[in-house]
Amino acid sequence: MRLVNVNYIDVEKYEYYVAKPIYSNGIVLLQENVKLNLSYVKQLNSKDIQYIYVSDEISEGIEPNDTISTEKYREVKDVIKDQFNMAKKGKNIGLNMNMINNTVSELLDIITSKRDISHSINEIRMTDDYLYEHSLNVMVSCMYTGILMKYDKIKLHKLALGALLHDVGKVFIDSEILNKPGKLTPEERIEIEKHPEIGYRYVSDNYGSEISSLSKQIILQHHEKWNGKGYPNQLSGDCIYGMARICSVADVFDALTSDRVYRKKMPIYKASEYIYSLGHNDFDFEIVKLFLSRIVKFKEGSIVKLSDGSKGIVYNQNKHMLDRPIIKLLVDRNGKNITYKNIFIDLIEEKTLFIEKQLENIFSN
Ligand SMILES: [Fe+2]
Ligand SMILES: [Fe+2]
Repeated sequence: MRLVNVNYIDVEKYEYYVAKPIYSNGIVLLQENVKLNLSYVKQLNSKDIQYIYVSDEISEGIEPNDTISTEKYREVKDVIKDQFNMAKKGKNIGLNMNMINNTVSELLDIITSKRDISHSINEIRMTDDYLYEHSLNVMVSCMYTGILMKYDKIKLHKLALGALLHDVGKVFIDSEILNKPGKLTPEERIEIEKHPEIGYRYVSDNYGSEISSLSKQIILQHHEKWNGKGYPNQLSGDCIYGMARICSVADVFDALTSDRVYRKKMPIYKASEYIYSLGHNDFDFEIVKLFLSRIVKFKEGSIVKLSDGSKGIVYNQNKHMLDRPIIKLLVDRNGKNITYKNIFIDLIEEKTLFIEKQLENIFSN
C-alpha cells in the first residue's frame, strides 16, 4: 500500500483500491478494498480529504512505516483543534490542561515504546487544517529530536507541551492577516510577530502553575535566531533555551513542507537542503545536523525519478542512509513499463544512481 494525494489519482488510467478505511467526521466514508471510481474521488474532494492509503499493483509488498497510526493522528489533531478553539472563545473557558497533558503523554508513550526509535522524524501531513496539524507535527518532531538528544521522559514532556502550544498565540491574531494570500504590509508583519509574546502571556496568566517555565520559554523564544536576528527579543546563541532551539528547527521545517495560502509546499528533500543552508545563521547547527540525519526524504510508496531517467517506487528505507532507499523499478530509462519484472535497486550499492526528484504519480515526468 502507499499514501497518495487524491488530486493526482487518475481512475481512468489506473486501478486503485482503498487500503485503510477512510473516515469523515467519525463515519466510515469508504471501506477497505473498495475500488475507487470518479464519484468516490469527488466525494473525497468534497470532504477535503487530501491523502489516502491505496493498494495497487505498483505498491504491492510495501508497508508504510507509521509510528503514529492515521487514526491516532487525526484524533490528536482534533483534540488540538478543540483546545485552540476553546482558547479563542475566552479565558474563562480556555484550555483543558489535563486533557492536553494526557494527550502529550499518550503520544510520548507511543513514540518511546517503539524499540526501533523511528527512522523518521517527519510524519505525513494528512489534512489542510494548518495551525492544528502544524502544532501536532512540530510536537512530534520535537519529541523525536529530544529522544535523539537523550532527554529523559520528564524533559521530553516539557519539550512536547511547549512545542504543542508554541503557536497558541496565533489564535488571538486576526485570521485575515494570518491567512492573507499576498505579501504582508509592515504593520501586518508586526501584528503576526506578536504571537510568541501573546501566547506566552496567555499561558503564563492562565496556566502559570500548570506549565513549566521551560515549556513557556519555547512559546516565547521559538522565533529567536542563532544569529540574534529573530524576534521578539533578538536573543542569540546560547541565550536561547535549548528546547526553543529544537522547536525553531522543527517549526521552520514543518512550515516549509506544508501548503500555505501564499505558497506551495516544498518537497522534503528540498526543505532539508534549505534548512541546512540556513544552519549556522538561523539555528543551532548541531540540532540541524541531528534533525536532518533522521528525516526520511522519500517515504515508502513515493514515486521517484532516478538520475538515469527510470522511474520507481520507494520500497524500503536504508536505516543508515535515509536518502538512499531501496527502489522497485516501474519504468525503465526508455519509458517501458517493467513493474512485472520485480527489479529492485538498492541505492546504497548503486552508487552512481541517485533520486532526481519525487513524482506525483507514475505518469508524470
Ligand atoms: Fe510561531
Ligand atoms: Fe509555528
